[in-house]
Amino acid sequence: MLSRKTIVAPSILASDFSRLGAEMERMTSAGADWIHCDVMDGHFVDNISFGPAIVEAVSRYTTLPLDVHLMIDHPDRYLERFMPFASSISVHLEAAHDVSKTLATVREAGLLAGLAISPQTPIEKIEPFLGAFDILLIMTVHPGRGGQAFLPDMLPKIAQAAFWRSQGTYEFHIEVDGGINALTALDSVQAGANILVAGTSVFRAPDAAVEIKQLREV
Ligand code: DX5
Ligand code: ZN
Repeated sequence: MLSRKTIVAPSILASDFSRLGAEMERMTSAGADWIHCDVMDGHFVDNISFGPAIVEAVSRYTTLPLDVHLMIDHPDRYLERFMPFASSISVHLEAAHDVSKTLATVREAGLLAGLAISPQTPIEKIEPFLGAFDILLIMTVHPGRGGQAFLPDMLPKIAQAAFWRSQGTYEFHIEVDGGINALTALDSVQAGANILVAGTSVFRAPDAAVEIKQLREV
């Protein structure tokens, strides 16, 4: 049985890359549960962020689980380069790859396998994959950059996923990613989300520990 306690996962996309190690230590002492790593390839999304070398560097500055979000095409070709440092790897349904095979490869490596869907993808598209993932990552902004406004139209998708989970056949986390702050976190958790990815709201907060505690207790 997966624990349903709320997990707060600051996204390093919003961190000061010139001081990444110190930023990871800051998030760790601020009480973050996971560290979310937004990998972008400039092809699946119109932005390039970082690759395995940065995730490896992050792993040397925190013992928190690293939640790798691959916003890349052909994620199957890169899994092995992230697996040594990651506790979970999420891949996009919309990306070019064999989704079931990629998810199975992540699971066989002993990691949590995540299926991510962008805002334009109807929630019904993930039904055939129920049972094949441990995390359903519902993007609440369009993938590609941080600092965007939360898309409230995503709330029914979270509720539908939570309904499928409530049927008891499938166990999985519901993760939301993008525009998450205390207000949007409340809506998301009430709809059924239990993993909150927050970049701007945590890294830009006057006190990250206060923000993380607020998010966890919505
Ligand atoms: C979008 C990114 C963002 C990021 C969080 O591709 O995945 O969602 O993690 O960004 P904020 O919290 O700044 O909206
Ligand atoms: Zn992400």
